Amino acid sequence: MPNESKPPRLDVPLGREVHAGQTPASAALPVKVVIPARLPASVMPAWLKLTLVAALLAGSGIATYAYHQIRLDAEQRQSAIAIVGGNPDRAPALIVRFGCAGCHSIRGVPEAVGQSGPSLNGVAREIYVAGIAPSTVDNLLDWIVDPQRMDPQTAMPRTGISRDEARDVATYLYSLR
Ligand code: HEC
Repeated sequence: MPNESKPPRLDVPLGREVHAGQTPASAALPVKVVIPARLPASVMPAWLKLTLVAALLAGSGIATYAYHQIRLDAEQRQSAIAIVGGNPDRAPALIVRFGCAGCHSIRGVPEAVGQSGPSLNGVAREIYVAGIAPSTVDNLLDWIVDPQRMDPQTAMPRTGISRDEARDVATYLYSLR
């Protein structure tokens, strides 16, 4: 009796290559591929998917931003070292020891929250040191070591900091973006 309702069979011999048009009837291995009419519906609700995607995007955005900031900080630090020539790592202790911290606020130095002098965060971008001398590294060092010599009227006292120590502090100030 004819068997028309059965699906077509592809008989593949085990361990042998099969080329189109030459499938021998011997060593038959029936192959049947079943494609479901419909893929199963996801158990994850749409709002959760959206939330996850949003969280993923936000997370990668924040990570990219943080990475970028850290790179900029590192670049700024390297150029400060190249331009000013001191060691910025020694600065925080010097800033506390010579009392700069009591009069100036300086980012990254927790003790430096003084208000009687200007904030020193943007010193590297200023055009004048203390508003009187062009903002060069040498003028900045001169100022830090002996402000009264540059401006007898200034309220900033001589602190006893050496020029080498002032260079470390200035390098740190230049490393602030
Ligand atoms: C007793 C407070 C006091 C201390 C201590 C002090 N300063 Fe100052 N500093 C000032 C004042 C006030 C000014 C503003 C001076 C002016 O414009 O005449 C100033 C100005 C400056 C400036 C110029 C800022 C600018 O915007 O151009 C720098 C740089 C500076 N101080 C660095 C230091 C460093 C570094 C130390 C520590 C070694 C220090 N100061 C210690 C009070 C102080």
